[in-house]
Amino acid sequence: MSQQIQAVRGMKDILPQETPLWQRVEQTLRDTFSAYGYSEIRLPLAEKTELFQRSIGEVTDIVEKEMYTFEDLNHERLSLRPEGTAGCVRAGIEHGLLHNQIQRLWYMGAMFRHERPQKGRYRQFHQAGIEAFGMEGPDIDGELIAMTARIWKSLGVTSLVLQINSLGTLAARQIYRGHLVEYFNGHREALDEDSQRRLTTNPLRILDSKNPDMRELILAAPQLSEHLDAESLAHFERLKTLLDSAGVLYTVNPRLVRGLDYYSKTVFEWVTDQLGAQGTVCAGGRYDGLIEQLGGKAAPAIGFAIGLERLLSLIESQAGLPAPQPPHLYLLVAGEHAERAGVKLVESLRDALPGLRLVMNCGGGSFKSQFKRADKSGARVALLLGDEELAKNIVGVKFLREERAQQEISMDNLAASLRELIL
Ligand code: HAM
Repeated sequence: MSQQIQAVRGMKDILPQETPLWQRVEQTLRDTFSAYGYSEIRLPLAEKTELFQRSIGEVTDIVEKEMYTFEDLNHERLSLRPEGTAGCVRAGIEHGLLHNQIQRLWYMGAMFRHERPQKGRYRQFHQAGIEAFGMEGPDIDGELIAMTARIWKSLGVTSLVLQINSLGTLAARQIYRGHLVEYFNGHREALDEDSQRRLTTNPLRILDSKNPDMRELILAAPQLSEHLDAESLAHFERLKTLLDSAGVLYTVNPRLVRGLDYYSKTVFEWVTDQLGAQGTVCAGGRYDGLIEQLGGKAAPAIGFAIGLERLLSLIESQAGLPAPQPPHLYLLVAGEHAERAGVKLVESLRDALPGLRLVMNCGGGSFKSQFKRADKSGARVALLLGDEELAKNIVGVKFLREERAQQEISMDNLAASLRELIL
C-alpha cells in the first residue's frame, strides 16, 4: 500500500457532521450583514506581498513571521491573505468604490497565518468581516458594534464581552510612543527579549505582551488615554454614549492596542473566557489613514472580522452540533426495468416537489442491503420500486421511523400523495 498523505498541519478539514453548523452560522451572518445594508465582495486568496507589508505593517507578527509568501512562476512575490482588510481596500481603490462615497462591504472566507497551531488557532482559518468606508463620525462605529451584538444574540451566544479603546490619531500616537519608549528604556532590564526588540520597532505592542513577569511594568506604563488628542477623545466619548443608547455593554480596556498597524481611534474586541488562550472571537477598529497609505484618496474607514472557528466552537460548547437534515425519501430500486423507471420517477418527483430531499439508491444491492442504507441515511420514508411494482404501476411506501402499515400508491398520483404524507 502507498503511504497516506496527511493534511497540512494547522489546516483542518470540516467534516460532514460539522458543516450544518457552519451553514447555519454563515446564513445568520449573511442575513444580518444584508439587513444592515452591506453588500458582499469576493476577493482573491493571494495578493502581492507588498500590499500586506504596507498595510498591516512591516514590524508586526503577521508580516514578520506568519505569512505564506512565495514567488510565482513570473517571479512575483505573492502572499496568501492573512486577513481581509488589505485586499478589500486594494480592491476598493482599484475599482473606484471608495472615492467620495459611502460603501458598506462584507466578505467571508479562508485566511492563512503560519502561527503555532493550538485550540482556536490554525494556519488556515475563516473570517467573516465587514468594512465600512466614507463615514468619519462615531455613529458608524456604534452601528457596527451593535450589529456584532445582534449576531451573538441571533446565534444564542452569551459569553462574549466587549472591550473598547481609542488609539487616537497617528500624530497623537507618535507623541505617546515617545513617552512609552522613554518609560520602557528606564526599565530595559525588566523587558523580555521580544519586548526589547519591540522597543525600537513597535513599542505599543509591548503593552500587548502576555508575559506575566512584565505585568506590573506594563500596568504602570503611561496610558494612551492620557495622551489622546481632543478630536479622538470626543469621538470616543460619543461612541460610548451611542453604545449606551443601543444597550450594548462594554468595558474600556486602555491596554487594547491590536496587532495590526493600520488602526486609529476606535478599536474593539469581543472576548470570552470559554476558549482558553485564544479568546478573541471578533476584533476590529477604525483605520482612517489606510486608504491614502495604499494610494487612494484619503477617506475614513472602519471594520471588523469574526474568527469563525472560534465562534463555532463557542456555539458548539453551548448547544452541541445541530443534526444534519436527513432526506425525506430514499428510493429502493431492483430490476433492470425498475431502474430505468426509477430514474424517470425521481426526476418527475423533483419537478413536482421543490424542496424535496430524495436519495435514490445507486450501486445496486438486494432489497435487504438497500433497506440498510435507507435506514442509515436517516430518511423518513422508503419508496420501493421493483419489476413487480412496475408491472402494477404502483410504488411501495414504507415508513422507516414510525409504526405504520406499508402502503401501495399509484404512480399516477404519487407526487400529490407524497406531498401530503411527508412535506
Ligand atoms: P485580527 O485580530 O488579526 O483582525 O483577526 C480577527 C479575528 O480572526 C481574531 O479575533 C480571531 O477570532 C480570528 N483569527 C485570527 N487569527 C486566527 C488563527 N490563526 N486561527 C483562528 N482564528 C484566527 C483582522 O484580521 C482585521 N482584518 C479585522 C478588521 C477588519 N479590522 C478592520 N476591519
